[in-house]
Amino acid sequence: MPVTRARLCTVDDVTPGGARRFDIGRHRICLVRIGDDFYAIGDRCSHADFSLSEGEVWPDEREIECWKHGSTFSLLTGEPQTLPATLPVPVYTVRVENGDVFVDVSES
Ligand code: FES
Repeated sequence: MPVTRARLCTVDDVTPGGARRFDIGRHRICLVRIGDDFYAIGDRCSHADFSLSEGEVWPDEREIECWKHGSTFSLLTGEPQTLPATLPVPVYTVRVENGDVFVDVSES
């Protein structure tokens, strides 16, 4: 499956400890910043159609909490760490270059 690199924003567009949603084609991406590290996972909670980027970032655990019912998702694996969600969300490769944040997304 062809993969393309998409620019999301500059590093300063996301505050440390914060998250933002980006829509790239069919991909709905939750970009999280912890310190100077960036993580990108699917923004749509696997339990129901709510936006993970509106939830709370847990920096020590490298997780984000779905605000609707409280499942937390690993920013490293996309796996839910607590119920009620049981399925993982996608994980995207993130690169930071010259102050810009990019993710790799499949085209189809
Ligand atoms: S919608 Fe996210 S845990 Fe229910």
